[in-house]
Formats: sequence, C-alpha cells, structure tokens
Amino acid sequence: MAKMTKETINVGFIGAGDIAILHAKAVQKTPGAKLVGLWNRSQDRAKERAEQFGCKNYVSPEALVRDPNIDAVFVLTNLESHLEYTKLALEHGKHVLVEKPVGMNVGEIQEMKTAADTKDLICLPGHNYIYESSMNRTRELIDGGDLGKIVSAYVMYNIHHPEEVAKRYPGVVRQILTHHSYILVYLLGAPVELCAMKATLHYAEYTEEDIAMVQMRMKNGALAHFCASFAADDHAADPWTVMVKVIGTAGSTRYSYRDHVEIKPGLVHSQTYTAYQGSVMNEVRHFLIDCLRMGGQPLSTLDDAITAQKMIEAAEESIAKRTIVTM
Ligand SMILES: NC(=O)c1ccc[n+]([C@@H]2O[C@H](COP(=O)([O-])OP(=O)(O)OC[C@H]3O[C@@H](n4cnc5c(N)ncnc54)[C@H](O)[C@@H]3O)[C@@H](O)[C@H]2O)c1
Repeated sequence: MAKMTKETINVGFIGAGDIAILHAKAVQKTPGAKLVGLWNRSQDRAKERAEQFGCKNYVSPEALVRDPNIDAVFVLTNLESHLEYTKLALEHGKHVLVEKPVGMNVGEIQEMKTAADTKDLICLPGHNYIYESSMNRTRELIDGGDLGKIVSAYVMYNIHHPEEVAKRYPGVVRQILTHHSYILVYLLGAPVELCAMKATLHYAEYTEEDIAMVQMRMKNGALAHFCASFAADDHAADPWTVMVKVIGTAGSTRYSYRDHVEIKPGLVHSQTYTAYQGSVMNEVRHFLIDCLRMGGQPLSTLDDAITAQKMIEAAEESIAKRTIVTM
C-alpha cells in the first residue's frame, strides 16, 4: 500500500460507546492524526461524545464515509453490525479499524478481507493485546528459538463485569476468548485440537456464560490453556487479571495487566489497568503511523481474525458436543 503523505490523517468513528473513549484518547495522542467526527445510533450518546471528543456529529454513517476529508474509519459498534459498517467504509475508499470480535462468522470476516483487498485498503482487526512490547518481545524470543522447545502457553483473564455490562456482549466465549485466540495465533500459531467448557455463575437473568476455559494441543506437541471470566476479579498476590505466559525448555515469558494499576475504576473495571488503554494506544498508532503513514503491513491481519474465529467456533462445538474438536 502507498504511503499517506498528507499532513494530517483524519479519522471518523462509527459507534461511540465505551471503547470509543479509549480510541479517542489514542487518536488524540497519535502525532499527525485527528478525530474529525463520529456517528452513533442514539443521538443523545452521539451529541455527548462529540462534545467530549471535540469533534463533529454526522447525521448518518453514509454522511461520515462520504466526507472526502476522512481517511480512516473506526468501526466501534456491536458485533452484529461490524460487517455492514466495515463494508460501507471500504466501499467509500476508507481504511478501516474494526473492533473485535471482527465478525459473526468466518464468512463475514472473509467478506471484509475481499472488500479491502479489492480496493487495496487496510482493514485492521482490533487485536489490541498484541500491540504491547512484552508480547512483541515474546514473539521474537519464540521465533529466534531463545525459549528452546515451547512446552506450554497460558492466557488468563479474570475481570468481574456486572450483569448489565455483560448483557451488551455475546458471552465470554466470543467476547473474551477472541482476545486469547488471536494472542495465541500471534505467538505460536493455531492449535491442532481443542476442548472447552463454560458455566454461568453470577448472572441473575442473563443466560450467556460468565466463565469459559479451553485446553489445546499445538502443532509441536505443546499444550495451551485459556481462561476467560467475567464472574469474579482476582485480587490475590500476583493475580491472574490478564496474564499471558509462554514456557519453553530454555526460558519463559510473562505479560501481566498488574504491572501497572491505578486505584480508580477504569470504564467497567473495578480498577484501572493501564495496559488496557496502552494497548489500544499502541494499536491505533500502529494502524495510523506504521500502516497508513509508512505503508507497512499490519502485525495482525484479517487472516489471523479468521483463524481466531475458527478457534471460537471450535470451542463452541466442543462445548455443545462435550468433545475434543480437531482444527
Ligand atoms: N478491544 C477491546 O479490548 C474491547 C473492549 C470492549 C469492547 N470492545 C468491542 O468494541 C465494540 C463496542 O463495544 P462497547 O463496549 O463500546 O459497547 P457499547 O455498548 O458501550 O457501545 C456500542 C455502541 O454501538 C452502538 N450500536 C449497537 N448496535 C448497533 C447497531 N446495530 N447499529 C449501529 N450502532 C449500534 C450503540 O448505540 C453504542 O453506542 C464491540 O465490538 C466490543 O466487542 C473491544
């Protein structure tokens, strides 16, 4: 893709909910980038956020994508509408960052990829967790053979979410294990077989799961484990709030949200895990600077989003059939 030479890269948001707050801060901190405007389905929210972010409030998503001033669109709505708005933006020649889970199924993500490739545009999946220096260093150590033979990998997530927040999402298998899946794909590739379990432990009415675990076998014989829970926080010593571990015969690595904590609520979290905002910041910078400004390729692609989606669907199949699924 050609480098973008204009002085300022202008961004528009479709969707202005919670995650838009982190993206707005990230754009603001990216040199040579500006949030020009947003569209949100409910006008009350749209006006509030446009004022908060100091940007324009477009009357429709069509008006936003037709604005020749806008170079890149962030799709920050709920999962069900990602395909519609991503395609709309790509068809109007805009580069896109689309939040995770990227699509409802593999076919939807494939459609986005075809639309982006046809127009020679970047469509970056919102795989924010991999844009952390500790993750990038882990990948370098694995690729360089410095950890020896990899024997195990763990991705753990234990962050309490109240029922009213969880209700906006599709259950932790899709909402959270998607993060785990693209992290594993980035670090070690896809598993060859997988089995999963889920449970609903603290919701009164909401019927989706609030905890899920996955057990996997990797191509080289190593085993991997995921845990995703909205059911309870872990505030013990060295907590597994968000923790990624890779263990090899010659070394091991750790990434933890607990390396930086601010004692104040962070969006829907009981404390502010600074790495959460930091990872979105790094992701946005990668999209706008490394990919659009410098003409580089994304570190995590729609093909990786397709692999992650296949892992999610395999986990769902394993849960439904109570069996091990071959990928
Ligand atoms: N990367 C991360 O760490 C992370 C964290 C939280 C959420 N997310 C993702 O971001 C997206 C938004 O999540 P959120 O927490 O901001 O949710 P939210 O409910 O706070 O905001 C979603 C916004 O989308 C709008 N919306 C919902 N359905 C729509 C539709 N069909 N058409 C048009 N607009 C619609 C709503 O009006 C709302 O303003 C989701 O895909 C979610 O999975 C990612």
